[in-house]
Amino acid sequence: MAADITIFRGDITRLAVDAIVNAANETLLGGGGVDGAIHRAAGPQLLAECRTLAGCPTGQAKRTAGYNLPAKYVFHTVGPIWRGGRADEAALLARCYRSCFDLAAETAIASIAFPAISTGVYGFPAEQAAHIARRETEYALQRGVPDLRKILFVGFDVTAEQILLKAFAPILS
Ligand code: APR
Repeated sequence: MAADITIFRGDITRLAVDAIVNAANETLLGGGGVDGAIHRAAGPQLLAECRTLAGCPTGQAKRTAGYNLPAKYVFHTVGPIWRGGRADEAALLARCYRSCFDLAAETAIASIAFPAISTGVYGFPAEQAAHIARRETEYALQRGVPDLRKILFVGFDVTAEQILLKAFAPILS
């Protein structure tokens, strides 16, 4: 059965899905943006668990519990910092999505929500990032993520939502 793909505008910390993805940094010790929002909503136990993970290289993802979040898990991934597009940024961002889908399969979750990884503080152009997200979603579903039934992509504002709707139009449910 194919997964239901939808675009959601709003705050990812409010989503009662099995896993929300955090756009973290390599320390995994919190920050601003969606990272800050997730840590605030999850509570201090999230940081305590993150401290046991010894960081995360760019492009990879690590799982923690969700604590006070409605989501059961947080998949912390580290996107690339945009340096003009000639430092392998696109491949590294693609790897973030692949790492999260691999974690989804390993965890056998049914629902997941992604923020627009790297498109805030890290400066990755949002349109290009959205196309990478869509392409990696198609690849993951072709490979098979057996239990995954619902995939949400979260735009934090109207502009971000519109960019996601345009990029995902061909595969939206
Ligand atoms: N819900 C959903 N999306 C959000 C939320 C939220 N509560 N808050 C911010 N966003 C959006 C931003 O508008 C942006 O589109 O998440 C996207 C990613 O932006 P950032 O959070 O700035 O993440 P990123 O660009 O990947 O930079 C990561 O920022 O916060 C630090 O610790 C983090 O060092 C890391 C860096």
